[in-house]
Amino acid sequence: MNRIGVLTSGGDAPGMNTAIRAVVRSADARGAETWAFEDGYTGLIEGRGRVISPRDVGDILHRGGTVLRTARCPEMRTPSGLAAALSSLEESAVEGLIVIGGDGSMRGAHALAGEGVAVVGIPASIDNDIWGTKMSLGVDSALNTIMEAIDKLRDTASSHKRAFLIETMGAGSGFLAGMAGVICGAELVVTPDTDVTVEEIGRIVARAHQRGKHHCFVIVAEGADLDVEGIAGHLRSSGIGFESRVTKLGHVQRGGSPSAFDRMLASRMGIEATNALLDGHSDVMTGLDGWNVALADLGEACSRVKRAGMEYVTMASLLSR
Ligand code: F6P
Repeated sequence: MNRIGVLTSGGDAPGMNTAIRAVVRSADARGAETWAFEDGYTGLIEGRGRVISPRDVGDILHRGGTVLRTARCPEMRTPSGLAAALSSLEESAVEGLIVIGGDGSMRGAHALAGEGVAVVGIPASIDNDIWGTKMSLGVDSALNTIMEAIDKLRDTASSHKRAFLIETMGAGSGFLAGMAGVICGAELVVTPDTDVTVEEIGRIVARAHQRGKHHCFVIVAEGADLDVEGIAGHLRSSGIGFESRVTKLGHVQRGGSPSAFDRMLASRMGIEATNALLDGHSDVMTGLDGWNVALADLGEACSRVKRAGMEYVTMASLLSR
């Protein structure tokens, strides 16, 4: 291949820039040029792209967001959108494409592969909900952001003897909430996989107060059946000992410089994806399997659901005694 394409799509994730840099430079090392599409699949459909050189990707490995920008692109799911993407690839003389993004982006990549385009995906989403990889780009950085925020909340919570209901992002997968629960010492984690009522949460928080705790965190995943405001309302009306406050961490979780782990993972996945594409692989995605970066089947990744389940929720409860 003389020219490969690259785009970032879906919600941005720390590590996307590191991956772009790795793709461009490892392609260059093998004599291939990289064509960068802007604004994800939207830019691909509209034929907005340019050659991007190894020098162009200098000074980006440590930056959050994506220098190619990103977008949610419902049009990519339509036959006309797919057809426009195919003509755009042909017009740009792009012979293979690397898609860096979340589960929807991987579905777009798989659809292109189904039309005969050589495509390799790199999973990047703070939700960690892409099957075929233990970790997606951005998860570790988002967790570090959450950890820093909750460490700060702990200071004020302990000073006032308060219970905090903290909402994390995660699109219902439960990973960020569960892992944050373990690393931040939550009393309880509520995810779409947990089966708990507000009354039970009230009893758990009250018991924490009775045991002499000075603060109490309940971490609630986006997409859980119970929401932070509802839980806080119940706690306020049921005399659990702590005063309650709500913090929704929101989009701050998606920003910031990628962590050391994400920089390493993005570099490894960028190189692996480029080599795979140039070696003739297609319809695959780079995945972290143990400590190895291996190729996973994109069709399978798109058809399976990855959820955190109860592992981290249980760990957090065990350690909250
Ligand atoms: O997929 C990443 C994510 O941040 C989810 O956790 C969240 O549900 C969603 O994107 C928010 O999307 P938007 O930025 O489009 O509001």
